[in-house]
Amino acid sequence: MLLQRSAPSCLMRGTVPAIRFARPRRAERQALRGDAARTAEAMDSHRPVMLEEALAGLAVHPGGTYVDGTFGRGGHARAILQALRGSGELHALDRDPQAGAAAQREFGDTPGFHFHRRNFAELGAFAAAAGIAGKVDGVLLDLGVSSPQFDDAARGFSFSQDGALDMRMDPQSGRSAAQWLAQAGEAEIADVLWRYGEERNSRRIARRIVDARAQAPIATTAQLAALIAAVPGPRSRGIHPATRSFQAIRIFINDELGALAAALTAVPDVLAPGGRLAVISFHSLEDRMVKRFIREGRVERGEGRGERRNGKTRGADAFAPLPSPLSPLKRILRAFPTEAELAANPRARSAVLRVAERVQ
Ligand SMILES: C[S@@+](CC[C@H](N)C(=O)[O-])C[C@H]1O[C@@H](n2cnc3c(N)ncnc32)[C@H](O)[C@@H]1O
Repeated sequence: MLLQRSAPSCLMRGTVPAIRFARPRRAERQALRGDAARTAEAMDSHRPVMLEEALAGLAVHPGGTYVDGTFGRGGHARAILQALRGSGELHALDRDPQAGAAAQREFGDTPGFHFHRRNFAELGAFAAAAGIAGKVDGVLLDLGVSSPQFDDAARGFSFSQDGALDMRMDPQSGRSAAQWLAQAGEAEIADVLWRYGEERNSRRIARRIVDARAQAPIATTAQLAALIAAVPGPRSRGIHPATRSFQAIRIFINDELGALAAALTAVPDVLAPGGRLAVISFHSLEDRMVKRFIREGRVERGEGRGERRNGKTRGADAFAPLPSPLSPLKRILRAFPTEAELAANPRARSAVLRVAERVQ
């Protein structure tokens, strides 16, 4: 099931050696935690997910060069800048113009900070143009949408607030969800709902959309949510009937899996030897793509149904590096949010962090 993963956990595989990343010292961890809290309040209420774990996984050190491919509201970026202690470079990317405005506001004057309004799908070209290809000590991707995007009704991501049915992370490029739904064939709509949302009712919903749009355009989130809620058929317990369809349409409209595939493909050439990749994903298709890339060194567009997760305990999972002649990366860590983080931030619920290192 894509949306309601059972609580993931810490699976220790055989004898686990000492964790190979430098853990921040206690005072630093406390500072990071305090900083995270301030960040969440100050920056349009996006609470960075798995902040401490991601920072430790990236092994951020002063003088290093880092790329945060998903700036959002800068929760992770702020912590990276802190760990750089005024020495080093952080290139932050985001395709959302509002993220750019927040970056300018918060870090415009910070030495070593550079914001680029770009799709992280262009990571390879970006790094080459910036002269940092093969020199980057860490790349962070914290996937999906930020809370400010989700909570702003006008962006059209949420079925619980009425707004224009847009769903684009970059509202200045590509088709909105409303434009796509106005033109797409019934089979294509059903396919998107099934592939990216595992919506068991995909065919009936697609039929209803096509019938409804013949009467009037589907222009708002409330219209689409009501239409989906009225479709009879199997329901997923505990979630709104439109949850899966909204997620699926968002992933499709923003080509989220395509962007991830392109970024991963570029990562080995962008990282310096020993450089780290840290990816926080919220969707089993993304996580599977990351896992396979780290293991096999190739990208597979995971468009089948998501993996099911069985009962596991939460926490970190340190891997002994497996010899993998095909992969330019060795896996370092997989971690899930702690119970304390989940209590403070339910939106972290389905997060998975994977960390890998470029082999020498
Ligand atoms: C989960 S939020 C990141 C939050 C951030 N780590 C923080 O602590 O504030 C994801 C962000 O990535 C951006 N994003 C998603 N896909 C992107 C892509 N392909 N290229 C650039 N930015 C992207 C979204 O616009 C959003 O702002």
